Parts: sequence; structure tokens; C-alpha cells
Amino acid sequence: MCSIIGIVTNNHAQVAPKLVKSLSRMEYRGYDSVGLATITNTGISVKKGVGKVSQVNGYLNLASMEGFVGIGHTRWATHGGVTDHNAHPHSCCTNDIAVVHNGIIENYQSLKQELTKTGHTFRSETDTEVIAHLLEQFYHNTGSIKKAMMETVSRIQGSFAFVAMFMDNTLACARLDEPLVIGIADGACYASSDVLGFLEYTDQAIFLDNRDIAIIDSTNGIDIFNFEGEKVVRNPTKVAWELADANKGKFAHYTIKEIFEQRETIRSSVTAQDAFSLKRFCDLLLDARKVIITGSGTSYHTSLIASMVGSRYLKKHFEPVMASEFRYNIDSIDSDTTLVAISQSGETADVLNAVKLAKNAGAKILSIVNVPSSSLARIADVSLCTNCGPEIGVAATKSFTGQLALVYATIDRASGGKIGFDAAAASDAVARVLQNSLKVEALVKDKMARVNDIYLLGRSLHFPIALEGALKMKELAYIHAEGMPAGELKHGPLALMDKNVYVFVLNPSDKTYTDTLGSVHEVKARGAKIIGISDVSSDLYDAMIKIPKMDSDILYPLLEVIPLQIFSYHLALQNNVDPDFPRNLAKSVTVR
Ligand code: M6R
Repeated sequence: MCSIIGIVTNNHAQVAPKLVKSLSRMEYRGYDSVGLATITNTGISVKKGVGKVSQVNGYLNLASMEGFVGIGHTRWATHGGVTDHNAHPHSCCTNDIAVVHNGIIENYQSLKQELTKTGHTFRSETDTEVIAHLLEQFYHNTGSIKKAMMETVSRIQGSFAFVAMFMDNTLACARLDEPLVIGIADGACYASSDVLGFLEYTDQAIFLDNRDIAIIDSTNGIDIFNFEGEKVVRNPTKVAWELADANKGKFAHYTIKEIFEQRETIRSSVTAQDAFSLKRFCDLLLDARKVIITGSGTSYHTSLIASMVGSRYLKKHFEPVMASEFRYNIDSIDSDTTLVAISQSGETADVLNAVKLAKNAGAKILSIVNVPSSSLARIADVSLCTNCGPEIGVAATKSFTGQLALVYATIDRASGGKIGFDAAAASDAVARVLQNSLKVEALVKDKMARVNDIYLLGRSLHFPIALEGALKMKELAYIHAEGMPAGELKHGPLALMDKNVYVFVLNPSDKTYTDTLGSVHEVKARGAKIIGISDVSSDLYDAMIKIPKMDSDILYPLLEVIPLQIFSYHLALQNNVDPDFPRNLAKSVTVR
């Protein structure tokens, strides 16, 4: 969602250019408005406005702001419209404290009323602004930043990571249920939503825990304590990601770069596992009476496939539950339950909430994440990492196939090798499917100029891929798309089929093949244009993307999703959409 960054230097380097760069790197998290505040000789200077980082920097010249200490923010609006006033940073009445915040302050209205009564004037409609006024009140009463921070966090409810900048060149930050990480470099310290905010300058990071407060100043360094004021020790760790992983390289967009990276990431998601964690993960799957798998969006689609594969090979009931629906379905969870939570970011609020509820009910928690330092990884009993490197494009691509590969590898191991999953062979097959990229591009240009409705059909393991393909087409290309079980066509959706409709059919030669071909006949008879994704050709298809024949049906989802990702990417370009930053969406959805 929003990104926050704060920088304190002790070498008199100007921070504004770095703040702008950091925000650009984290822009994928949320991006309707942007702002910076720096400390100057005459006070705190704030510049903020609506637009992307490059646009706002263009018209406000953010990078030229003076100062050795500063904070910055990209906003994805929750409370208050997308306006210059509502953009962060927000300042207190006396303009000597400025704040950037990610999260939601649930009790902001009552706090705002209370603060207004005591003489504070609000300049925005945001929930965030109460933080600046609370800090002002407590700081001016006590003269202590530590006390002001402790009092402030004791008054606000909700989820937050915020950085406050004080006129004495100090930054103070706190977190509860939103990510916050400190980067330590020679001559500078960073407080950031994401390591990408400072990876260019340092790979040394301190991941703050929930209920941590840190005070950073150029002379005394970093002081970390909890909300009760007790000192806590958090040791720096080395960030595993390389900066090169966060660049586009030779590609036009992150999304297509990340689609092509799947040649390697399927392999790396499996091979880089720590043996001890892998064993514990499998034991907790095997010991459970009931396994529930949860996730959101694309990660939920992984949960669907994981449940089918788990039930098949471990001979026990696996239940997929959408994370946003989890809280309404918790009655049967107990200490014999294992919850597997799947998330690229490890910060999705719905997923974290599901984990908390399951934990309270006594369940064991396993997680599969792509960000190893994420909140989800840290609250799970055992966490495995998909090791895909940073995924910047808002649409999940390589993280999805990484999750699938890791799910297959763990279930294979837990079942005593019944799957015989070979990640290297799967990667090679994916590389072969990627060779269809130019063919897909040409099909989009030649045959899909005016497509408004797309349906995707599949049965069994292919149905979640139909859902995933539809999600990609919606979010990347803004095209109405629906994934459905092919067998359900005759129960209603067949009424929608006519010559204007495109139908993608996921139909490899496994046990679903003949039945799905029957569904193809049904839509063909209604005039729909059919694009087959299969290892077997058919005259019924108007166009076809051929995938290799695989030994096991569970491997097909890894292959089928690749052309769907590439179709979505080229449909996005055709519709003049920036595939990396689709409208209204954020990479990491940290609000419920
Ligand atoms: O980080 P997560 O995997 O928890 O994110 C879950 C969803 O928000 C995410 O998959 C979303 O649906 C993507 N935009 C899909 O491409």
C-alpha cells in the first residue's frame, strides 16, 4: 500500500535525491500521490502532490529540496480523497514535526475531535494527521521524543508503520501490523517500508517487530524499545536480495521480466530450502488432523491447487479458504489443525488476520512467502521462502509458479516421494513454453484487437489456472474475464457464449481431456473464438499454444499459466495500460 521512507545522514549529504529514488523503487506498493519533508535552516519544508513519483518530482522538483534529514511517502488513498492536502507528509500545528504513515488509524475520528477541542487545527481529511498532532501535544508537554512516541502509540488504534521527523534532526518510527525496516549504511540510516527503499545503499537491515519504536539520530545512532519503553535488541541481518534483481534489465517492464525469470525461479524456489525447516514443515502437515490452506488473489489460487495435490498424495482432507473469508469460517479450527498461509509479500492483511485467528484457536501455522523477513514469515511456526527475488510488477507471476513448485516439493517429500517432482525438469519445460512469447504477441495483435469478454475453462487442477488467467487479464488489461470449471458451462454460463466472445481452454492430455473437449464443442457451436492451451492439437481451436507433454498432470498448471500471463501482458500494452502499475491496485494489500 503506501510506502514510507526516512533518511538521517551524518555526513551532510543532501537526502532529497535519495528519498525520491527510494520512493520510485517502492512505488509499486501504492501510488496516487507523493510527498517529501526535509529539515532546512528555516524549519521543516514540505512538498507534496498528486501523481506518480516521476510526475510529482517533475512539477515540484522534490529532488532539489535542501536538507540532511528527511522523510518521504507514496500514498494509496484510504481515508480522504486523492488531493494535494491529503498527500503525506502531514505536519503538526507548530510545523516542527512531520509524519509519514502506512496503515489505518481506526479511532482517528474521536482523536481528531479531542485534539480539535484542545486547539489543534487539521489540514487534511486523513487518519494520519492525528499522529502529527498527538506527537506535538506529548512532545511539547514532556520535551522527550521517547515519551511522545510511547504516549502516541498508546492512543492510536489500528495498524501502522510511521516515521516522524523532529526539528532536532531526529527520526522516530513505530510499527504495529505494518512493515518497517531500518537500513544501516556508512554515513546514513534509513527507515523504510521495504528493503528496496535502501538496497542501493546498504544490505544491512534491522527488521523491526510489532510494537517496536526506534529513534534514529545522527549522533546517537539507533535506540530501539517497545511500546512500554523497555529496551529491545534487534541485530542487523544481511538482506538476501541483490539490487540487480530489482531492475528491469533489458526488458520494457518488470512484469515481462518477471514472467521470463520463471525459467530460473521455479528451480530456485525448491533448491534453496533449509533442510530442518523443510522437515518440520512436512511433519506439521503429516501430524495435522485437518489442513487448511489460505491466501488472497493469486496466492489463493495456489491454495486451491495445493489442496487438491495435498489431498491426493497425503490422503487427508485439505481445505482451501480465501483469506478474506477466513474469519467467517473458523468454528472447526483447533490444536489438531495446521494452517498453511501462502503469500508473496507476507504482509497481506487478510492473510495475517487469518493466521492470528487460527493461532488463537490453537492451530499450527506454516507459511510460504517470497519475502523472508515479512510479518507472515515471522509469526509462522515454520516458514519456507519461494526465493524468487523481488517481484515488483503488481501482478503476481513468478511468485505464483514459485509457490506451486514449493508446494509440490513439500508434498512430494511428505508423501515419501510419491510425486517424484523434479524442479529442474519443470523449469526446462517452462523455458520451452516461454518460447511461444512471440506467437502470443502476434495473436494479440492480429486477432484480439477488440476483445471485451474472455472466458477461461478448465477442470480439476486447471480450474484454478482458469481463475488465475482471468485475474491476470482483469488486472493487467482491464478486460472482463472469468475463469470457470468447464463442467459448469451447461449450468448457466453457456448463455453468454456468442461470436464476440474469446474462450481460453486449458486442456492438456490428462484425465480431464475428453470431458473438456466436450465443453469446447459446446462453446464452438455458439460461435465463440477458442484458444487452446494443450499438448494436443484440435481442429476446434481457432488458435493454439502448444505446451509439452508431461508425465504428471500436476505439472501442467506450471506450464499453462505462462501463456496466460503473456497474453495478459500484451493485451495490457494493446489497451495502453502500464502493466507494472495497473490502476487502483497495490502490490501489497496491508488493509482489510
Ligand atoms: O502478497 P500476496 O501474495 O499475499 O498478495 C495477495 C494478492 O493481493 C495478490 O496475489 C494479488 O491478487 C495480485 N495482484 C495478483 O496478481
